[in-house]
Amino acid sequence: MKKTIVTGGAGFIGSHTCVELLAAGIEPVIVDDLRNSEERVLDGLEKITGRKPVIHRIDCTDARAMDLVFATERPDSVIHFAADKAVGESVRDPLKYYHNNIGSLVTLLRVMADHQVKDLVFSSSCTVYGEGDKLPITEDSPTGAAASPYGYTKVVCEQLLRDVCAADPALRTVMLRYFNPIGAHPSAQIGELPIGVPNNLVPFITQAAAGLRKQLTVFGNDYPTRDGSCIRDYIHVVDLAKAHVLALQWINRQSGAVCEVFNLGTGQGSTVLEAVNTFEAVNGVKVPYAIGPRRAGDVMAIYADTAKSLRLLGWRTELTLADALRDAWRWQLALGK
Ligand code: UD1
Repeated sequence: MKKTIVTGGAGFIGSHTCVELLAAGIEPVIVDDLRNSEERVLDGLEKITGRKPVIHRIDCTDARAMDLVFATERPDSVIHFAADKAVGESVRDPLKYYHNNIGSLVTLLRVMADHQVKDLVFSSSCTVYGEGDKLPITEDSPTGAAASPYGYTKVVCEQLLRDVCAADPALRTVMLRYFNPIGAHPSAQIGELPIGVPNNLVPFITQAAAGLRKQLTVFGNDYPTRDGSCIRDYIHVVDLAKAHVLALQWINRQSGAVCEVFNLGTGQGSTVLEAVNTFEAVNGVKVPYAIGPRRAGDVMAIYADTAKSLRLLGWRTELTLADALRDAWRWQLALGK
């Protein structure tokens, strides 16, 4: 069985990817210090897959610990999820973001080189496009206009990977630009575990619907969109997870150098109010909400052109916004109101 190191494998997207890796006959080895996730994710993974993945509880910027993991596990490839991702926090504490997000990638690439591991899938984000020049947005659109230090760490990591690929053509890397991952595993065994007050829309919706938050604030209804609220491309985390397996398999089929970037979205934009209405319709519960001011740093509208992912990876989403909002609600109920 091929073995993949999954940094951040106990996190939201990482844990769902572990499920899909196992389904594809690839063994995930998790590297995660659980700073932003919980040990019980491993129980959820065991319930879904019948196997409890190995976890190394280390910080990815710790070169010696990472070296030891590679020496013991002898992986064939790496999927690098581990990163800090709270946009607001990155504005308050940029050094934390530059240190962790860039430092962990530098460390990882050094350790990979030392152990002759060549295949890497990297978690990037549509945030690298900033406001974007045309919609749907294609991979060749200009990047670098990110609205936050978090976003810039993704811009820098992508550039860093391009530079390292140019210097070492044996390195084979794919950068996946996620749009807005939401939902949970349909089994409700794993899902997103926001710590404190959620920053992201869907965890806030589920908590407001569950009565844990007084109400959702819709950040602005005066944008020039069809109902005045912002447009995003919400993608079910299970669809997203499957793309990682296809990306690894695609790298494997290539001969020679690989340094490629792919959008991972549905190709459909939904407004905030459409997400709220769909949530209410599919789950039969009300979401208390009020319209508030715009949030600083929000782009008005962004959604993916997914033609390249379909053409090269053979990947397209299979699940809908309604599926994702149903699964998000099931997960909220499983967590307990
Ligand atoms: C942001 C980042 C993205 C990152 C993601 C995960 C940017 C431009 N985007 O996405 O790169 O991967 O976070 O952390 O930096 N909304 C409300 N009320 C709320 C929360 C959100 O109306 O309480 C609205 C927002 O204005 C936005 C939409 O919901 O229009 C989605 O927001 P959110 O879930 O925070 O994701 P993004 O900001 O799109």
